[in-house]
Amino acid sequence: MAKTIAICNQKGGVGKTTTAVNLAACFAALEKKTLLVDIDPQANASQSVGVNEVQEEDIYEALVLAEKPEELTSEKLSEIIKSANQEYKLKCLSIMPSSPGLAKLEIELVNAANRERRMQNLIQAIKFTYEYIVIDAPPSLNLLTINTLTAANSVVIPVQCEYFSLQGVAELLNTIKLVQNNLNSNLKIEGALLTMFDSRNSLSKQVADDVRKNFPGRVFDSIIPRNVKLAEAPSYGKPILLYDIQSAGCLAYMKFAEELLNG
Ligand SMILES: Nc1ncnc2c1ncn2[C@@H]1O[C@H](COP(=O)(O)OP(=O)(O)OP(=O)(O)O)[C@@H](O)[C@H]1O
Ligand SMILES: [Mg+2]
Repeated sequence: MAKTIAICNQKGGVGKTTTAVNLAACFAALEKKTLLVDIDPQANASQSVGVNEVQEEDIYEALVLAEKPEELTSEKLSEIIKSANQEYKLKCLSIMPSSPGLAKLEIELVNAANRERRMQNLIQAIKFTYEYIVIDAPPSLNLLTINTLTAANSVVIPVQCEYFSLQGVAELLNTIKLVQNNLNSNLKIEGALLTMFDSRNSLSKQVADDVRKNFPGRVFDSIIPRNVKLAEAPSYGKPILLYDIQSAGCLAYMKFAEELLNG
């Protein structure tokens, strides 16, 4: 049965998508059958694994059908879930893509039945097909994020090594607590992941120290460095493993994946 890990932080541009894509790819490279779920209307995770065009059906249709779980048939799901670009030989990686059209679901769900549990129903329907499901959340604490937290077993919080990085984390932790109390009592915080660390920059070190001092809970030993290869890879539609396996960014995400797998 799949373990579902949500990559969440309502702060924009902190490395959620880079983390979700590369963590999922590292799991797949370790021969874990993995599904990357893109629940951000920006669709950056989809593009990062080579799904560039808007698909006929994507996560939007899946979440609409998820009002009634019996409508999520395996035929329907296999139309929506794509293999991540196969020429790249990551056989264990699949993607449930998103597109800008997902934004309207946010409004459609306001008064809808099961509005917080659509993603949970969706995960229920696929959890026996995968070992790991990694969800790339949008930069907000909206209903799409609530759905994500309600469906997940655990959350990874990427924290960028910049000033203001801890701003908003308290709000995120409050939201997680609300979800734990009302919607998903099993939700665990996996920990905070320091991203875009620049060893030449004393501010980066200071922020990393501050996060380690102030973050209520675990901060992963693995740190993701600022690495231009990580920023370039999405424009080729490839996870870093397939773009530059020797890069510092690739080594860091591989180490992080192993740290997560080993608890
Ligand atoms: N470790 C890194 N080194 C260099 N660039 C990075 C790194 N991590 C992310 N980036 C770049 O920083 C930008 C923001 O990263 P990313 O898209 O992963 O953040 P995000 O939290 O998903 O953003 P959003 O909130 O918009 O969804 C992207 O251009 C990405 O390529
Ligand atoms: Mg993103």
